[in-house]
Amino acid sequence: MPTESANQLCLRGSIYTLIDDPFLQAQEDCAVQYEDGLIIIRDGTIEAVGDYASLRGRLSADCELRHYPDALLLPGFIDAHIHYPQVEIIGSFGAQLLEWLQKYTFPAEANFRDPAHARRIADFFVAELLRNGTTSASVFCTSAPGSVDAIFAAAQQVNMQMLAGKMMMDSHAPANLLDSAQASYDDSKTLIERWHGRGRCLYTISPRFALTSSREQLELAGALLRDYGDVRLQSHISENHAEVARAKELFPERANYTDIYDHYGLLNARAIYGHGIHLSEGELRRFYETGAKIAHCPTSNFFIGSGLFDIARVRDAARPVTVGLGTDVGGGTSFSMLRTMSAAYQMAQLRGISLPAAHLYYLAALGSAQSLGIAGEVGSLQAGYAADVIVLDPRATPLLRLRADVADSLDELLFALMICADDRAVAATYVAGELVYERA
Ligand code: GUN
Ligand code: ZN
Repeated sequence: MPTESANQLCLRGSIYTLIDDPFLQAQEDCAVQYEDGLIIIRDGTIEAVGDYASLRGRLSADCELRHYPDALLLPGFIDAHIHYPQVEIIGSFGAQLLEWLQKYTFPAEANFRDPAHARRIADFFVAELLRNGTTSASVFCTSAPGSVDAIFAAAQQVNMQMLAGKMMMDSHAPANLLDSAQASYDDSKTLIERWHGRGRCLYTISPRFALTSSREQLELAGALLRDYGDVRLQSHISENHAEVARAKELFPERANYTDIYDHYGLLNARAIYGHGIHLSEGELRRFYETGAKIAHCPTSNFFIGSGLFDIARVRDAARPVTVGLGTDVGGGTSFSMLRTMSAAYQMAQLRGISLPAAHLYYLAALGSAQSLGIAGEVGSLQAGYAADVIVLDPRATPLLRLRADVADSLDELLFALMICADDRAVAATYVAGELVYERA
């Protein structure tokens, strides 16, 4: 809830932010840190970021200064892929993707035809994001248009940047979730006109995946993406071997899974696809050529047993596909982007790559922002950006305290924090300069 009244709000503490992509540029040119730093905020926007000593002269008479002497100030995390209707089925036992969808996901999503249920879960979901330091997210709803109204309304209450859209699915799913190609087009259009650009809401066209859409529906999703030059698109691709085989069976005329989406005009710089674990070299090249992005969702990939995303291959500098980080709750096992970064590190380890802290903090904020077409506004702490800021407590638990006390550098501290911490380390969350969550 909005609590601020001062025109100028200033946050003092240790600042750490990425300003460029450490997968492609020298790390020292990408990470910015101020041991005793200051963020000057006016009207929800960052006015200046720097050393406290050099910026203190710019504090205005009406400034409200909040000092977090033992904490880290970071840009809010950005979850590039998450399903709000799946929160109640998080941690469901024993199935791989296609069975997991049938057994747990579809029944849970059917409940969202009830607007009261949708709003109750949407409110819980937004609060849980903020409690975890996530200030923007790209969210799948269900095929019920009311599920989209519920999530945008919940986000608007806290002025949070929210990307979301109605799930388009007209084939191979239970009847109580199916739309039709035309109805999904009409409903999406109505929702775009209602929500896109309203406050900080951004509409995202959301065909579930090729397995649950007819050719006609994919065609119409492409028409929406063409007609509305500023809306985004999200879907899923190449998460699981059985899914890839089924996509080939359903669309035998297409060269590969990526070619299905490409054929219908769904592969461009405004599109992001969850997972992409099993994409071929040719498919990755097509992602690079079209500017389409991938949301890497490691806790989900471990939990559903989908496979090991090869981040070094996907980000190969010869044709780097842009990647953001997603929790994929309820396939994913945590709302915490810290835990998700830890899982991404561990998955890369299993591929023989040790990702430095800067790469993981990049993925969780700036990388996700670049993947969702919202870089330049959020994902970094720089003048002109929205003041979406989180306060992390590196001594939030006895173990973290013990570990932090022997860390020799900020880099070491950030790394251990990312590996060992979770929501308990989030001391406060600011959205557009307003305190929207504070740990008890
Ligand atoms: N593929 C299609 N739908 C889904 C979903 O809801 N979750 C995951 N993890 N993969 C999907
Ligand atoms: Zn997903």
